Amino acid sequence: MGQQRHVVLKLALWVLTSGALVQVVNAADNPCAAGPPVDTNPAECCPTPMLMEGTIMMDCYQKYGEQTKKQLQMEGIPRGCCIAECAMNATNMYADGMLKRDDLSKMFMDAVKDKPEWMSLVRDATNACFELAEKKKDEIEAGAKLEPSFEGEKICHPISGTILRCMEDAPLVINWGPGCDSPPAWIGLYEENPALSNASPIAKVFPNGVHSGQVISDVKFGRRKLPGGWSHDQVLQHIPKRKTKPICFDLYLTSYDEAGQLQYFDCLKIQPTWMFSEPGLGNVSLRELFLPGTHCSGCYQTRNNVGNAFLKKIGFRQSMDVWSQLVFGVRYLDFSIGYYPSHNGTRNFWIMNEHFRVASLGPILQDIRRFVILSEETVFLDFRRFPLGFHKNPEQHTALLALLEQELGDLVYRRQFLSSSAEVETADNVDGESYNLTLGDMRREGKYILITYNHEASLNANEHKTPIIQLSSDRLCPSPWTTMDVHS
Ligand SMILES: *[C@@H]1O[C@H](CO)[C@@H](O)[C@H](O)[C@H]1NC(C)=O
Ligand SMILES: *[C@@H]1O[C@H](CO)[C@@H](O)[C@H](O)[C@H]1NC(C)=O
Ligand SMILES: *[C@@H]1O[C@H](CO)[C@@H](O)[C@H](O)[C@H]1NC(C)=O
Ligand SMILES: *[C@@H]1O[C@H](CO)[C@@H](O)[C@H](O)[C@H]1NC(C)=O
Repeated sequence: MGQQRHVVLKLALWVLTSGALVQVVNAADNPCAAGPPVDTNPAECCPTPMLMEGTIMMDCYQKYGEQTKKQLQMEGIPRGCCIAECAMNATNMYADGMLKRDDLSKMFMDAVKDKPEWMSLVRDATNACFELAEKKKDEIEAGAKLEPSFEGEKICHPISGTILRCMEDAPLVINWGPGCDSPPAWIGLYEENPALSNASPIAKVFPNGVHSGQVISDVKFGRRKLPGGWSHDQVLQHIPKRKTKPICFDLYLTSYDEAGQLQYFDCLKIQPTWMFSEPGLGNVSLRELFLPGTHCSGCYQTRNNVGNAFLKKIGFRQSMDVWSQLVFGVRYLDFSIGYYPSHNGTRNFWIMNEHFRVASLGPILQDIRRFVILSEETVFLDFRRFPLGFHKNPEQHTALLALLEQELGDLVYRRQFLSSSAEVETADNVDGESYNLTLGDMRREGKYILITYNHEASLNANEHKTPIIQLSSDRLCPSPWTTMDVHS
């Protein structure tokens, strides 16, 4: 099978988690996981339709949001989501444990009637979601019979939540190409490894001679745990094994030629330890390294910021949290940081998306720490901009550096200052050093994090003899990436 690698056929499986299409499926906004949908005019927010009216969802969230948060923490049979049931009541779609399927399809289709490109997707999604509910009938019925487990808990029928949540789930996208010389006869998507099982594909795609393409399947990504024990909860209980191979979700893709011969095999995977798997990387200098990275890495929706209308309006940049980004293989994270004092002083530093506060920085640093300790991968943190609270209070840099020192200090690579301060003055030397640094150099010192920090005074703080800064400024490096053009 070795030579198959050279076949100019590339298959890839993505979860469609960003871009326009997912918005459609998101449009029903899973009220149980995420909270209220947009309370602004949807037309302002995104060019895609809302399947449920925003004000209804907002009202229902206000009534049942707190109870739902509590219920989400509970184990056992999934409890019905009252936010969803309340919305279905408000639109007259729910009665006696049933949704009026035809009316509901009509309502969803009406929501996209001016957008013909969405219609088939919404229709297919509606059908697929009702089928899913049928499959989960026993669990749904059991959920409906639960008794209140805390003071004031309202028990709702799980059907409404099941359907709305399903409408929100990201679909899997099957890609082939680009420029496939001999496109496969068909591509199959499986939930069990086809090399080990005879299960039939859950979706089939026929490229019909087309050299590259993309098909949105009706298979939902859903709420899958990160495989291999890498989910955030699991690593707290059990240290995952470092593996030299990527780890597959139970989603496999194979392509076959006309004769029914297997051409190519792939899966949707995480790569939590890809640097470990490539020993040669240890020799590569940072300037030659090509790293997968994300922009505005902390800008995603959480339970705490989901109600923030401004954030909804400018959009969350990431669909995965920092932990998942790292587990999928991202090694470069960029942050804009704001200073905004909290009532008791513990949460002063914020991840910013433009001028809006997205989330507190502390927990993200803790996730980075945990990941690096478990994986021994090297992670680059680029503190790029400081759009709130620093300009008039430069001393906040000192406080931020102290936080970084406290949370990550032992893992952060320290710049080797030359003994003579005169030599340090020339920016060339300083930059040159971080340019030539290799991952191996860092690992040998037991350091797995490189921080680049875009603030001149903090970088050179050793000369300023400010006590706290002096502790940490040698842990900061000028960014080799952002200053590249100056030197090349
Ligand atoms: C929805 O309406 C039904 C009556 O048809 C009622 O029993 C139920 O409590 C309502 N649910 C919510 C969440 O308001
Ligand atoms: C790294 O480079 C050194 C010297 O250039 C060489 O001896 C060593 O084998 C290399 N290691 C790897 C893993 O490529
Ligand atoms: C500060 O407030 C946060 C959230 O309101 C709380 O979780 C934390 O325990 C408080 N810390 C102290 C030291 O009071
Ligand atoms: C970095 O490496 C390049 C090429 O190996 C070399 O020319 C340069 O002098 C090095 N810079 C420093 C500061 O060591």
